[in-house]
Amino acid sequence: MKKIVLATRNKDKIKEIKNIFKILDLKDVELLTISDFANVPEVEEDGKTLKDNAIKKAKVVGNYTGLPALSEDTGLFVEYLNGAPGIYSARYADKNAKKHTATYEDNCKKLIKELDGVEWEKRKAEFICLSALYDPKKNKCYTRKGVIKGYISINPSGSKGFGYDPVFYFPEKQKTFAEISSEEKNLLSHRFLAIKQIVKLIKNLN
Ligand code: IMP
Repeated sequence: MKKIVLATRNKDKIKEIKNIFKILDLKDVELLTISDFANVPEVEEDGKTLKDNAIKKAKVVGNYTGLPALSEDTGLFVEYLNGAPGIYSARYADKNAKKHTATYEDNCKKLIKELDGVEWEKRKAEFICLSALYDPKKNKCYTRKGVIKGYISINPSGSKGFGYDPVFYFPEKQKTFAEISSEEKNLLSHRFLAIKQIVKLIKNLN
C-alpha cells in the first residue's frame, strides 16, 4: 500500500480531494493528512504564483514526513479585475496584510461589491488549481494544472461547497458551484482536473 500525505490543513479541500480519489478509484493508496503526524511545520504561502506555493507546501510536508506529499494551491482569477483575487484569493478581504481574518463570506461579499454594475460578459472568471506531488526519496516534484471557466454571479447563491462557490456561476450547469451537489462539483471542478493528472503520476511512484 502506497502512502501519500495531503499537504493541506483546509478541511474543505481534504474532503473534496478524498472524494476525488474515490471517484478515480485509485487502488493500493492510503491517503494520510498532516494531522496523522506530530508538529508538521506551518508553511507560509509567500510565493509569487500558485505553482510556487503548491511546490513549497508539498516539499515541506514531504521532507518532514519522508512520504510522497500532494498539495494544491487554488485561486479565482477574474478578468475584469485583471486576474484578482488570484493568488490572494484566501486573503482577499483581509483588513490587515499581516493578519488573516477574512472569512469565505467576507471574500464573496467583497468580490460582488467590486463587480457591482459590471455587465455579464465582463464577469468572466476562472478557477485555477495547481497541484504538486513531491517525492522526497528522489527529491522530485511534479505539478499539474486544472482550470474551469465561469462567471461571477450578480448575487451569491447556494449553500454547498466552500470559498467562492456561491459566486462562481458555471454556465454548463446554469448554476453556481454552491448550487450543485458535491458529487457533481468533484466530477468536473478545477481540483478534479488537476488531481486526475496527479493520480496518473502517483501510479508510477515506487
Ligand atoms: P488556497 O489554495 O488555500 O490558497 O485557497 C485560496 C482560496 O480560494 C480559499 O480560501 C477559498 O476561498 C478559495 N477556493 C479554493 N478552492 C475553492 C473551490 O473549489 N471553490 C471555491 N473557492 C475555492
